[in-house]
Amino acid sequence: MNKHWNEIIKEKKEKVLSGDLEYPIRILAIETSCDETSVAIVEDGQRILSNVVSSQIDIHKRFGGVVPEVASRKHVEGINYILEEALQEANLSLDEIDAIAVTYGPGLIGALLVGLSAAKAIAFAKGIPLIGVHHIAGHIYANQLVTPMKFPLIALVVSGGHTELVYMRDHLEFEVLGETRDDAAGEAYDKVARALHLPYPGGPHIDRLAKQGKPIIPLPRALMDEPYDFSFSGLKSAVINTLHNAARRSEVIKKEDMAASFQEAVVDVLVEKTFRAIVDKDIKHLVLAGGVAANSELRRRLTEKANELDVSLTIPPLSLCTDNAAMIASVAYYAYIKGKWSQLDLNSIASLPLSTNN
Ligand code: KG4
Ligand code: ZN
Repeated sequence: MNKHWNEIIKEKKEKVLSGDLEYPIRILAIETSCDETSVAIVEDGQRILSNVVSSQIDIHKRFGGVVPEVASRKHVEGINYILEEALQEANLSLDEIDAIAVTYGPGLIGALLVGLSAAKAIAFAKGIPLIGVHHIAGHIYANQLVTPMKFPLIALVVSGGHTELVYMRDHLEFEVLGETRDDAAGEAYDKVARALHLPYPGGPHIDRLAKQGKPIIPLPRALMDEPYDFSFSGLKSAVINTLHNAARRSEVIKKEDMAASFQEAVVDVLVEKTFRAIVDKDIKHLVLAGGVAANSELRRRLTEKANELDVSLTIPPLSLCTDNAAMIASVAYYAYIKGKWSQLDLNSIASLPLSTNN
């Protein structure tokens, strides 16, 4: 490389912004924000050529949650193998990649830095653009890999770390209408599961048990008078208190009934607030994102209400709902064609807010 990276990138960006684009545009993305090491190659923001995800869940399970230090070390060990696998699966070499995308926040800082360092090294060595992507933008764009998003839309993002209602006027234009003030929906599932002595992550176990129980235990629905914000920590405490009080009185509460009651309380709030936003903003497309999108009751209730109101609903397959790099590559495609590229001094940000600038 005779020229400085900055010069090469400047020339490439001028070309792209003048509309001189050579399709297909292939973006390689890296995602290491939590406990999944993932590398994907996606063409034109939509066609997945490879999406390799290596989950550390079995390692963290024994601790009952993700241990940040352990997660970072596992990313370091795995990243190059996963990168190689993603290239092999797509049958491509790094020379055929147009840009490198990477999640730079929010997430566990040590974990994010592993992916960011790898991404910078490749971008620098190959003289190609580096594109930093917001993790939640990625979750939303998992939908773009399924069907083109129709704007304006509402995205309900529900994962282990996030619960957000996002309004999008167009590509890469995010307005957070509401979010959780304490625990995320998935976090509440995991904590309640723990109180019920179910394995981590608890969401799928509660979902399964709820089908065999009845929602007969009274539990609170928080912040119903507030337009779009959520709160799940009071609900989690109410479950724990109810279990403790019953144990003290030697009463038996069926796990199935508690699971069904808790699930109904969570889903009631999520559905109510999502459709409040849809009606207020006159929206015709609702997209679901994040690990809790796997929840059968949430899917059922959202589908029912969407049909009733003639709103189209997209729910990605489970493999795209949980953390993966393909969703990051999809966001990066739109950033690529708009010239929203990062510099080599890009840093990871643990609590990066979702805004139109990322
Ligand atoms: O998006 P994700 O894979 O990781 C984060 O970025 O947080 O989401 C994981 C979360 C966990 O809290 C897990 O318990 C929850 O998604 N989850 C579910 C279900 N499947 C996974 N929650 C409720 N019902 C499910 N079926
Ligand atoms: Zn996530």
